[in-house]
Amino acid sequence: MTLAAIDATGLTKVYGRLTAVDHVDLKVSAGGVFGLLGPNGAGKTTIIKLLTGLSDITEGSAYVAGFDVRRQPMHAKQRIGWVAAEVILDDDLSAWENLWLQAQLQRISGWTDRARSLLRYFDLDDRRSDRVGGFSTGMRKKLEIALALLHQPEVIFMDEPTIGLDANTRRMLWEMIRGVNREFQVTVLLTSHYIEEADALCDHVAIIDHGRFVAQGTPDELKARVRAEFIELETRPPLAEAELLALPGVQSARSQGSGWLLRVASADETLAAILTRVDPRTIHRVNVERPSLESVFIDLTGSRIDSTAGEVPDYRKFYANLRRAQR
Ligand SMILES: Nc1ncnc2c1ncn2[C@@H]1O[C@H](COP(=O)(O)OP(=O)(O)OP(=O)(O)O)[C@@H](O)[C@H]1O
Ligand SMILES: [Mg+2]
Repeated sequence: MTLAAIDATGLTKVYGRLTAVDHVDLKVSAGGVFGLLGPNGAGKTTIIKLLTGLSDITEGSAYVAGFDVRRQPMHAKQRIGWVAAEVILDDDLSAWENLWLQAQLQRISGWTDRARSLLRYFDLDDRRSDRVGGFSTGMRKKLEIALALLHQPEVIFMDEPTIGLDANTRRMLWEMIRGVNREFQVTVLLTSHYIEEADALCDHVAIIDHGRFVAQGTPDELKARVRAEFIELETRPPLAEAELLALPGVQSARSQGSGWLLRVASADETLAAILTRVDPRTIHRVNVERPSLESVFIDLTGSRIDSTAGEVPDYRKFYANLRRAQR
């Protein structure tokens, strides 16, 4: 037995020639909200599948709520809740009927009091008899979390709980997840590729890339590691490396697609110099990454977690930055 809610050592999953999860050591203390942050294909869902017994571990060991996932899978499963990235609700049934169905599937006796208090907690009690097909996305997500909590698990796994939700619904869910963690005393392990989500919601974050943990710590610890900012710069014609290295404050220049990724001491200082030395008409794209979990990832891997960010040329923002820098 161990006090950690999750304790995995050398956790590995091999699919044919691909090592999807590569000797990961993961310790999650009971009572926290832990985030696995990484880009598409990093291995986040696979880790959840290994820890919940949905997929066989190739190598290594994993204990969840004190039970060996391989040797005592039933004991472990009784203590685990799982919120999948995909929707699992039955649209034709009401909220209450979905809870009833979950209770039958999991053979939970005396579930009704718990179901009532969950519906109250998630503010769904006046909708309990309504068909789920008519629920908003946020309401559906809340009901999915309620289903996962029905059997009173000690640890709940949430795979991309807020993917595709608008910013307001996402924030509402962050509150809910924090609340679930506190009120129901459940340890939460969630995956995300939203930087702000990991930052705002998680006590502890592991950044994962290509099946390996590249960094672990509290969001503040991780951000404090990077004493730099990053500027992504693309010009037509491209600038030579020597020109970039000659700009003030540039620590390194790494080629990135058809542009450059500059590691700089201060983005404002370097942006001001870019304006005076580079013809603005040649600037095709520029993006500044301030210290964030994204900049930690960029620093460690040279690429972004959120590959969609910074792709749109935003000259207004660029010039606003320059004006600020020149003040
Ligand atoms: N059943 C499977 N068979 C073969 N390869 C798989 C299988 N499941 C996942 N993989 C591969 O393992 C790697 C990790 O996948 P995984 O789903 O864990 O990533 P992820 O971090 O959850 O990504 P996303 O953010 O897109 O959900 C990927 O390269 C994926 O193609
Ligand atoms: Mg996934």
